[in-house]
Amino acid sequence: MERSTQLQNADNELEQQFGYAERVKQILCSRYEKQPLAFVHTYGCQQNVSDSERLKGLLELMGYGFTDELEAADLVLYNTCAVREHAEDRVFGNVGLLKACKRKKPEMTVIVCGCMTQQTSVADKIKRSYPYVDILFGTHVRHRLPEFLYRRLSGGERVFENPDTGESLVEGVPLHRDGTFKAWLPIMQGCNNFCTYCIVPYVRGREHSREQSAVIDEAKRLIESGAKEIMLLGQNVNSYGRGNSEKTDFAALLRAVNALPGDFRIRFMTSHPKDCSDELLLAMSECEKVEKHLHLPVQCGSDRLLKIMNRHYDTAKYMSLIEKARALMPDISFTSDIIVGFPDERDEDFRGTIDLVKRVGYYSLFTFIYSKRSGTPAAKMENQVPEDVVKDRFDRLLALVQEKGRKASSRFEGTVQEILVEEESREK
Ligand code: SAH
Ligand code: SF4
Ligand code: F3S
Repeated sequence: MERSTQLQNADNELEQQFGYAERVKQILCSRYEKQPLAFVHTYGCQQNVSDSERLKGLLELMGYGFTDELEAADLVLYNTCAVREHAEDRVFGNVGLLKACKRKKPEMTVIVCGCMTQQTSVADKIKRSYPYVDILFGTHVRHRLPEFLYRRLSGGERVFENPDTGESLVEGVPLHRDGTFKAWLPIMQGCNNFCTYCIVPYVRGREHSREQSAVIDEAKRLIESGAKEIMLLGQNVNSYGRGNSEKTDFAALLRAVNALPGDFRIRFMTSHPKDCSDELLLAMSECEKVEKHLHLPVQCGSDRLLKIMNRHYDTAKYMSLIEKARALMPDISFTSDIIVGFPDERDEDFRGTIDLVKRVGYYSLFTFIYSKRSGTPAAKMENQVPEDVVKDRFDRLLALVQEKGRKASSRFEGTVQEILVEEESREK
């Protein structure tokens, strides 16, 4: 187990949590003959994967081991995502399945946490309709997992804690990493952008950047422990450092991580086009450890819709970023996120998206059907696009992506490239 950073910022609260962890450990020792096992499942983005590494660090501290088999688990934890309805439905489906598990094994502890639980409607539904969920907690209090477990395991009521705000950047939480060579490194939390379709700012709270020294310390530890690829994470890494006491920005951070000794590569996501500075592109081109790949979500290729989405750039600005990046890094590959079916998306808006996708020549695309998120401005907009129209547009975009993808990978034919083997294919 590693420490995510030294206990520099750890206040009394974290010390208190370590106290609870010790008490949970004692309860577990008296209750189980063998080491109790936790099944942790993570939905959603890399930010959530990274949060789960910290939740697993805390579980490990309390004496839990880990299992991939639900039947073997003494504790089940679902770290949830609220970004689209489909993601939420999967969580409800899987939590529903736990009813039978809990009947067979009543002492099993069931925990639901993460972005979904920040929505009062979700917390209420779980409280009401899923009585076998023991603990529910939100994104602002996840470092308090030991306390919540202690309360429940020592015979207390079901725990429901999802305050709207709280300490979002608690340093010093222990970390359990599954991957050995790929490492997630969160550099910030939350989001200030309020794109009109998106629930993230509501469930994650305002943007806060970690101190550069904390990020660098963690990067050093990751490299020492054998990480070959470090992914710097944030909802909008390009605004890293805003509001911090020390003067820094993402370009400076990238240069600082690049300067660390060792054989490793650096990636980052996500870059918001509105904050993608010339200095960042320059730093990227000059840092030899930084992968020449930019995930630059455009969302759509219509200036009219980009405005309504509150994205703060237009297609001309976006294309100029692509051109600047290509001029500095001729081999760079681009990926993007696209939403199809945003309210009032018209044929000409969608044609703009197709046109932009063709012009950029993405390496690959993450395409999403617009999902209405209650509480966001877009949910109340008129002219929601009918399902069949969205489906048709989505299929047309997908066909284009597949055709382009084949071309994109063929450009490396006949060249020698350094690659990182991530896993062995199951197909022999
Ligand atoms: N912070 C990142 C994205 C985080 S969410 C950024 O701004 O790029 C990942 C992606 O999910 C978004 O880029 C968007 O394409 C998609 N998304 C977010 N809300 C959505 C919604 N309501 N319906 C469909 N897709 C959505
Ligand atoms: Fe959502 Fe926009 Fe923030 Fe990304 S930048 S998380 S899309 S609000
Ligand atoms: Fe989902 Fe939360 Fe990430 S809503 S996309 S897990 S920040």
